[in-house]
Amino acid sequence: MPRNCFLILLMSLCHSAWPNTSVAWQAADAPIAVEAGAIATVQPLATEAGLGAYQRGGNAIDAAVAAALTLGVVDGHNSGIGGGCFILIHRADGTAFAIDGRETAPAAAHENMFLRDGKPQAGLSETGPLATGVPGAIAAYYRALRRHGNLSFAELLEPAAQIAENGFPLDSVSARRLASTADKLMQFSASKAIYFKPNGHPYGEGELLKQPDLAQTYRGIARQGPDYFYRGPVAQAVSEWMSKNGGMITANDFGNYEAKTRDAIVTNYRGYDVIGFPPPSSGGVHVAEMLNILEPFDLRAMHQRDPVQLLHVIAEAMKLAFADRAYWLGDADFADVPRGLIDKEYGRLLSQRINVDRATPVPEHGEPPQWKSDLFERHTTHVAAADKLGNWVAITATVNTSFGSKVVVPGTGVVLNNQMDDFSVFPGVPNFFGLVGAINNAVAPGKRPLSSMSPTIVLKDGRPVLTVGAAGGPKIITQVLLAIVRTIDLQMPLDEAIAQPRIHHQWSPDKLMVEHSMDATIIQRLKQFGHVIDVLPLHSAGVTQAIGWKSNGQLWPVHDPRIPGQASVYVP
Ligand code: GLY
Repeated sequence: MPRNCFLILLMSLCHSAWPNTSVAWQAADAPIAVEAGAIATVQPLATEAGLGAYQRGGNAIDAAVAAALTLGVVDGHNSGIGGGCFILIHRADGTAFAIDGRETAPAAAHENMFLRDGKPQAGLSETGPLATGVPGAIAAYYRALRRHGNLSFAELLEPAAQIAENGFPLDSVSARRLASTADKLMQFSASKAIYFKPNGHPYGEGELLKQPDLAQTYRGIARQGPDYFYRGPVAQAVSEWMSKNGGMITANDFGNYEAKTRDAIVTNYRGYDVIGFPPPSSGGVHVAEMLNILEPFDLRAMHQRDPVQLLHVIAEAMKLAFADRAYWLGDADFADVPRGLIDKEYGRLLSQRINVDRATPVPEHGEPPQWKSDLFERHTTHVAAADKLGNWVAITATVNTSFGSKVVVPGTGVVLNNQMDDFSVFPGVPNFFGLVGAINNAVAPGKRPLSSMSPTIVLKDGRPVLTVGAAGGPKIITQVLLAIVRTIDLQMPLDEAIAQPRIHHQWSPDKLMVEHSMDATIIQRLKQFGHVIDVLPLHSAGVTQAIGWKSNGQLWPVHDPRIPGQASVYVP
């Protein structure tokens, strides 16, 4: 198998420099002044928190973690400390780190936990106590900061705690999400106490949302470190609530949680190194796989000749990759996930199955080379941060669907995730996102559910040129692919690449999803290629944040124009 064309790099190329998960926390290097930094998030208050971190002498890692902690307060329907995250870091010294803060299934979890009378009950994995995995965000943020940041955890937690205590006006997106999940949130007393007014209505756009319990939790973590969360009052409160309400998570599950530093995936695409997140993310694997499938095509020439044919070919690549995702992907600590999925030759063979004039059915997954022996050791938000020293960061964080399990644990203010729904609750039964999975992604104690989160950093000749990631379930993977193809192949300016209407194919259902803003004549042509088209309603094709360079050498942060967000540059 020709493996010389691509590498799954053990990132620094020097394995001994690659930290092991059991290594004790190392003190961060002495701070070096950041000449300029950039940050892009979906919420202006979070972007401001990132700018504040730069101002206090922080680097891009500090700025990204400050923003992520603030998003947990001001954008809690998408992410928060009751959820998980993946953090991808390219350091100024050229090393890269993938920090896995994905949730884990509790020790008592088992394959049949979402079956009743032998039948899967999807609701159980989406709402309430069984939906939740042990949260990983705090452990991952702390690990990123201690090893790669300049500032202390307490310095970044306090500004977010102040916003939680004093309140902030709800924006239109949060108010809409609150209204659409209100009936489920009100089933849980602490959730009701936070998100509903005395008159019984949920808070609306422009109204002040205060979260005093969450402020207290943030301050407890600031005082006592992650132990306050994993071994102290939060673990205790969750375990008590779970045992009273039919859940499985115990204080021991919290105490046993560990963020993991993993080997990032690097694949070469047209002379660029694309760094992605390994399993339990499916993003890194399938962005690399799709790029490998597309590389034999001259996409730029195709775009100039017939832009709709380009969309058709990209859709076919998505379909092939998602068929593999459904079968092969899961937490590689538990399941056999073949490295051959990102083999260049495998990608080339799959590319030969694409008919450039016609949609081709993909009946089942492929068989990557050496699939038995060569294995990987896995509603959401994305933060992009970069500084001029060369520290570039991509954090994707999530509680899964809006407000996760809808449970706020009394006394903590913490919204618990519903990440258990990202397991295949039953082979062939689609989850919230319509994704099907197989045995590799079945529930098991301590296992991490498969994710689509795809924080990605692209290098040219060792220099970071793009950090990109997205929210949107499986559409995360395809958004990252489109951002890379549109900037590298089509040479679009970054803002245009992100604003352009998107397509998404996830193999099952066999439909090509297109954003409503796509030109009707393009949709018509895609139908003529043989695609069954599903036009997505407003705002539903995900949200991307990215940072690149302007031609004048300035950092260029971009937030997705589909929702209100903020992208800013800090200049001292
Ligand atoms: N919960 C969405 C994902 O991780 O893919």
